[in-house]
Amino acid sequence: MRFLIILLAYTARAFAASIENCPGYTASNIVDADGTLTADLTLSGDACNIYSTDLPDLTLLVEYQTETRLHVKIFDTGLDVFQVQEHILTRPSSQNISSSDAALQFSLIEDPFSFSITRSSSGEVLFNTTGSQLVFETQYVYLKTQLPQNPNLYGLGEHSDSFRLPTENYQRVLWNSESPFIPRLSNLYGSHPNYLDHRGDAGSHGVFLLNSNGMNININRTDEGEQFLEYNTIGGILDFYFLAGPSPSEVSQQYAEVVGLPAMMPYWTFGFHQCKYGYWDVNYVAEVVGNYSAANIPLETMWSDIDYMDLRQVFTTDPERFPLHKMRELADTLHERGQHYIMMLDPGIHRLGNYSTFTRGDEKGVFLKADDGSNYRGVQWAGEVVWPDWIASSTQDWWTDEISRFFDPESSIDIDGAWNDMNEASNFCSDVNCDPAQQAKDSNNPPQPTNPPRNNTGRPIPGFPEDFQPDPAPTRRLRSRQAASGQMKGLPDRDLFSPKYRINNHQGDLSVYTLYTNITNADGTRQYDTHNMYGLTMLTATRNALLARRPGRRPFVLTRSTFAGAGARAAHWFGDNASTWADYRTSIAQLLAFAAVHQMPMVGSDVCGFNGAAQERMCARWALLGAFMPFYRNHADLSAPFQEFYRWDLVARAARKAIDARYRLLDYAYTALRRASATGAPIVNPLFFLYPADKDTFGIDTQFFYGDALLVSPVVDDDAESVTYYLPDDVFYDFWTLARVRGAGANVTVDNVTWTDIPVHIRGGAVLPLRTASANTTALLRRNDFRLVVAPGLDGTAAGSLYLDDGESLDVGDEMSEIGFAWDGATFKAAGTFGYSTDVVVESVVVLGGEQPVTREGPWSLNEPFEFTLSQ
Ligand SMILES: *[C@@H]1O[C@H](CO)[C@@H](O)[C@H](O)[C@H]1NC(C)=O
Ligand SMILES: *[C@@H]1O[C@H](CO)[C@@H](O)[C@H](O)[C@H]1NC(C)=O
Ligand SMILES: *[C@@H]1O[C@H](CO)[C@@H](O)[C@H](O)[C@H]1NC(C)=O
Ligand SMILES: *[C@@H]1O[C@H](CO)[C@@H](O)[C@H](O)[C@H]1NC(C)=O
Ligand SMILES: *[C@@H]1O[C@H](CO)[C@@H](O)[C@H](O)[C@H]1NC(C)=O
Ligand SMILES: *[C@@H]1O[C@H](CO)[C@@H](O)[C@H](O)[C@H]1NC(C)=O
Ligand SMILES: *[C@@H]1O[C@H](CO)[C@@H](O)[C@H](O)[C@H]1NC(C)=O
Ligand SMILES: *[C@@H]1O[C@H](CO)[C@@H](O)[C@H](O)[C@H]1NC(C)=O
Ligand SMILES: *[C@@H]1O[C@H](CO)[C@@H](O)[C@H](O)[C@H]1NC(C)=O
Ligand SMILES: *[C@@H]1O[C@H](CO)[C@@H](O)[C@H](O)[C@H]1NC(C)=O
Repeated sequence: MRFLIILLAYTARAFAASIENCPGYTASNIVDADGTLTADLTLSGDACNIYSTDLPDLTLLVEYQTETRLHVKIFDTGLDVFQVQEHILTRPSSQNISSSDAALQFSLIEDPFSFSITRSSSGEVLFNTTGSQLVFETQYVYLKTQLPQNPNLYGLGEHSDSFRLPTENYQRVLWNSESPFIPRLSNLYGSHPNYLDHRGDAGSHGVFLLNSNGMNININRTDEGEQFLEYNTIGGILDFYFLAGPSPSEVSQQYAEVVGLPAMMPYWTFGFHQCKYGYWDVNYVAEVVGNYSAANIPLETMWSDIDYMDLRQVFTTDPERFPLHKMRELADTLHERGQHYIMMLDPGIHRLGNYSTFTRGDEKGVFLKADDGSNYRGVQWAGEVVWPDWIASSTQDWWTDEISRFFDPESSIDIDGAWNDMNEASNFCSDVNCDPAQQAKDSNNPPQPTNPPRNNTGRPIPGFPEDFQPDPAPTRRLRSRQAASGQMKGLPDRDLFSPKYRINNHQGDLSVYTLYTNITNADGTRQYDTHNMYGLTMLTATRNALLARRPGRRPFVLTRSTFAGAGARAAHWFGDNASTWADYRTSIAQLLAFAAVHQMPMVGSDVCGFNGAAQERMCARWALLGAFMPFYRNHADLSAPFQEFYRWDLVARAARKAIDARYRLLDYAYTALRRASATGAPIVNPLFFLYPADKDTFGIDTQFFYGDALLVSPVVDDDAESVTYYLPDDVFYDFWTLARVRGAGANVTVDNVTWTDIPVHIRGGAVLPLRTASANTTALLRRNDFRLVVAPGLDGTAAGSLYLDDGESLDVGDEMSEIGFAWDGATFKAAGTFGYSTDVVVESVVVLGGEQPVTREGPWSLNEPFEFTLSQ
């Protein structure tokens, strides 16, 4: 009998190698200097080498960095394993506080090593790895924490799943990838390895794993019903930041202290944007702009997708469809009308023929290299391309120079912002056996246009040039491929294509449709380790280049691919969604995750959907919903029918109403962005951020607060005119009618929401600054006066704020006003700083809450404090 059991155990081990059999580590040499703890971790037994080779010696470093932030880092003692470069994501500095002053406590068990994080005030266990072994191998790192039953977890983007993550049999894969139709339960364009864990009355905390490697994060229950979360990464180290909250909003703010406060955006970027792939010539682009005006729908910014490029090459214009002189005229005309213009820049650089962007880059050695020192090649829109190595020392200079040349206001096109697409990076080569030249031909890149040119006298965009030329023999010295040891650049001798532990990338293997993961970057690191940061490094270079082009002015970069920290530098749209009700709904969960958890406030989806035909009623609803998201752009694919708001009368009416409200509220949103940028307080709030004790709010992802005072509750069901939304136990005011509504902490069903309506409520306790009227551009809007709406809370008081500046300077210095408004039930006061001098005044103040709103007419100057008392 005994024999049999042993035999069975052996068989099980041999056939199903399991991490449970890994030896774990033993902690020794524990040095606990108050505020910092270090220890050696040594492998406790025979290596299990389950997916690669166990590392025998690790170091543990624990730092009580601030009262609310605890840093726990487990890394190889030899410092060979890849660590995210400091210049890509600068680490926060530590205030070295004493552990007795900290809101979080670290404790460890020595043998086998495990650790837990508890909340000092309550003893609540937030993270506990006891019961499973740490596994730290050359190509696999595993750590598991227990969690309470049915946890409320949010984040771990980018995904298109519910905002509150499923807790059973759920997997998040982090591997940035081209993801048309934003598939559910899949890795998408960006990676944000942080989550927020909300425990109601027991508080919220955050966990950020600073690791850029591909990973599967599993949230699940054991067969015994124990809840857990486990990290399975294919490289890198365990670099955790635990954030104490305890309010959800504080967790968000503490995360911003780690990855950077969100970038302040220009005022005009809150305007309405229009784009489409398939505006086939410059005249057509101009016609769309003209038709928006004719339809009396304010258009702030026109965009150009890759249509404008000559043979899809960045920094060129098609000489016949988009001739430079007409493009200049287009941009200048837009500017004269108070509008803006943005063009696309892809990272794939065409490498054939006499293409100066390539030639100049090649001379400076800015492109990623194959192992023989030649430029690494793949396929993108332009055909055979090479990709910038954003880490190489000359790349920024080259990119800044290309952007300065092509967007020179004196001689070329004066753009107002840049759009970075395909930067995961997307590669049309499907696998590592790809012959780029053949693949470019086979996939018809650059493509023939599928839309007939409006001006048929223009030449059609020709196919891929016949004159393929072999790469010139490499002249540069071969780059050393030796991984320098002790420099955190990645271990040598790894399988960089198909590591034994497989992450469930929806595209397949790691290198499918992207840059090969065996490529060495200029600093000796590998794409295997840095892949998820390709987009981040590109958008950073673009931001720097825009800043060099217009010094002192806030750059606007829209990026598809992101990584933790991207919000400090750029805006993001949720990629190539579909024109479906499902993706309309999903945009709310995506908004909540990015704006409230990942600290990327300037986000939104392609309004009316990118892929497929937008249906009229859906587009009307989306025009209304999108108007309450920070970034508001209608965009569609080449193959999709046109979906500009003016194409349908119903949609045009919905859009006019939506944009009118959005613009009157623009300073309210701008003030919220300023607050986010200064403090990290999120620009959009999930309901539980404002009602953290109300369990009924924890799962809501079809409603949200735009800013902290406007509850948006759109119709979400397909083709429906009714909506059931939740109103917390609080007082609200209908935004459209100003009628008082007492929320009962219950659902409300409304059956008559017309196709041009969206339910929006002002939260009691708020003072909203609104412009008295909308305008056809944000430049004109800025000249309109304000009307303040006072919405008293249950206690009869209200407060709000207004931020004013010139709308575009990066550093406004003292030339800004931060005005706080307070209503105590009788007296209204406006006070604060008044550094931004303006002729715009507060025309009136409307106090809600009584039988009828009471209006007190001004004017009051916004250059100084004011107050008045309303006699009852
Ligand atoms: C905290 O300690 C680290 C390492 O000992 C040191 O480099 C750093 O300057 C200290 N920071 C402060 C704010 O004291
Ligand atoms: C962590 O989990 C283990 C095993 O379940 C348990 O014994 C231990 O008390 C937990 N740690 C803390 C700090 O609660
Ligand atoms: C969750 O656990 C179940 C039961 O053990 C297992 O079958 C499933 O594969 C797990 N899912 C994930 C995503 O780990
Ligand atoms: C603009 O409006 C005119 C007149 O309604 C119409 O003929 C034309 O097709 C429209 N063009 C675009 C690009 O919307
Ligand atoms: C906005 O309206 C003004 C006149 O009120 C006009 O001069 C301007 O051209 C309009 N701009 C746009 C973009 O329609
Ligand atoms: C390549 O282009 C540059 C500038 O665009 C030009 O000066 C040069 O003569 C061209 N070379 C050839 C071989 O066409
Ligand atoms: C990467 O792998 C490919 C396919 O095996 C190979 O052709 C290439 O030489 C490798 N590149 C590098 C930089 O090692
Ligand atoms: C059509 O294109 C040709 C060549 O670019 C140009 O000369 C002509 O003016 C265009 N016609 C119209 C109506 O735009
Ligand atoms: C509100 O309705 C939704 C379904 O529409 C439901 O899931 C939720 O539990 C309801 N909330 C309350 C508090 O009844
Ligand atoms: C919807 O119905 C409610 C209650 O029946 C009514 O008060 C409201 O005026 C209606 N709204 C519209 C837009 O018809």
